[in-house]
Formats: sequence, C-alpha cells, structure tokens
Amino acid sequence: MLNIILMGPPGAGKGTQAVDIAEHFHIPHISTGDMFREAIANKTPLGLQAKAIIDQGGLVPDSLTIDLVKDRLSKDDCANGYLLDGFPRTIPQAEALAELGPKIGRAVNLAVNISVPDEILVDRIAQRRVCPKCGASYHLVNRKPAKDGICDRCGSELIQRKDDNAESFKVRLENYNKQTSPLLDYYKKAGFLHEFNGNQAVETIRQEVFSLLEANQ
Ligand code: AP5
Repeated sequence: MLNIILMGPPGAGKGTQAVDIAEHFHIPHISTGDMFREAIANKTPLGLQAKAIIDQGGLVPDSLTIDLVKDRLSKDDCANGYLLDGFPRTIPQAEALAELGPKIGRAVNLAVNISVPDEILVDRIAQRRVCPKCGASYHLVNRKPAKDGICDRCGSELIQRKDDNAESFKVRLENYNKQTSPLLDYYKKAGFLHEFNGNQAVETIRQEVFSLLEANQ
C-alpha cells in the first residue's frame, strides 16, 4: 500500500513529481496548496480566510488545514493509497495525521523528501508559471510550454502565482526552515523517511522515486 507524504521546501519539485506519481501508481494526489487555491478561486469561507495568509507566504492555521485533510483522506478514493503533497507542514499536523491514519486504516508508510539548495529554489520560483485551470506547472527555461504563455495540456493562459514573488518566497522559506524541516527528524525516527536529491533532472528524480515506490507497493 502506498500511503505517501511528499515533502520538500517551496519550489523543490513536489508538484511536478506528484502528478507523475499519482498517474503511474493510480493514487489520488492531495495537495493542500491546490485545495486552498481552489477555495480562494471559488471564494468559499475557507478561501476568504486563507487568501491573505497564502499571498504573503504564511502558513494557514493548523486547525483549518487539519480539518481539510481529515475530510479528504476519509474519502473512498484514498482506500488504496494516497499521495499527500504539502501536508503535514508542522508537528501538530504530523501528530494529527498519525492519530487519524491508523483510525481509518490509512496510516502513512512512506515519507519522500526532495531537497534542493536555496539558490536553486529562488530561481525555480521566479521562473515558474502555472495553469490556473488544470494546475500544470512550467519553468520559463527548464520546462517551457510549447507555445509561450499557453498551457500545453488545456490551452489556458499561464499565470504567475501571487505568492511567487521574492518577499513571499522569503517568508515561505523561513516557515519551511522553522516549522516544516523538524518533520524530517520526526519521520526519520518513525523509520519512514526517504531522501532524494532534487537538484537533478525531473526524469532522474522520477526514476529514483518510482524505484522506491515500486519496491513498497
Ligand atoms: P504549496 O502549493 O504546497 O506550495 P509550496 O510548498 O511552497 O510548494 P510549491 O508549489 O511552491 O513548489 P513545489 O515543490 O510543488 O515545486 P514545483 O513542482 O511547482 O502551498 C502554497 C501555500 O499554501 C503555502 O505557502 C501555505 O500558505 C499554504 N499551505 C499549503 N499547505 C499547507 C499546510 N499543510 N499548512 C499550512 N499552510 C499550507 O516546481 C517549482 C518550479 O521548478 C516549476 O517551475 C518546475 O517546472 C520547476 N522544477 C521542478 N522540478 C525541477 C527539476 N528537477 N529541475 C528543474 N526545474 C524543476
């Protein structure tokens, strides 16, 4: 069973790898960042609460985030595995997941961490463009769309995320270092942690991660 959490700093390539993992292993890709962005686009009460926090690079409060993931993980499509991208991001979130998972027969068994040096992350975030409709992610140099500014997958106009600016990125990285990186030790102690060098070609990382997942299927 693949009950996976995908970890790494902002811009590490979690979303890029997650799409391929979910498709290849037939498990749902659950990205809390995507869920929040969808809530913001739909102007739901959650979206209205989260918008300013996310735009400035802050973390959405644990209580809201944990409730969102509890609901999502309880859905039928997670019965045969799941891929959590961007959750947990704090120790209280990890503890909530450790309590919920076994209760619903969906305990985490793999933590995949992608690490990338800060100076590379800065470039990736500055050069990222995303599709607001289907969520596809591009890089202006490394992963260019076939036609400038247009999504290869669905033909929509690409945009830059509001939190992909230098100021918000600095806050996101600080939050990652303070609140999220302690989780590496947490999952190492639990015996679930697998580390990957994210400063390699997308395809190389994918092959390395796929080998781990195939061995644990
Ligand atoms: P979220 O959407 O999760 O953002 P993030 O963690 O900052 O991660 P990113 O989406 O920025 O990066 P990524 O690692 O997915 O990289 P990508 O594959 O796109 O969260 C956004 C916000 O929501 C948070 O800041 C917070 O406010 C809130 N939030 C979410 N979850 C929360 C939680 N649990 N608790 C509280 N708040 C929460 O790649 C980046 C770029 O690099 C792309 O251009 C890509 O094409 C390129 N690239 C990828 N891999 C490679 C490679 N190997 N080589 C070269 N280029 C590459």
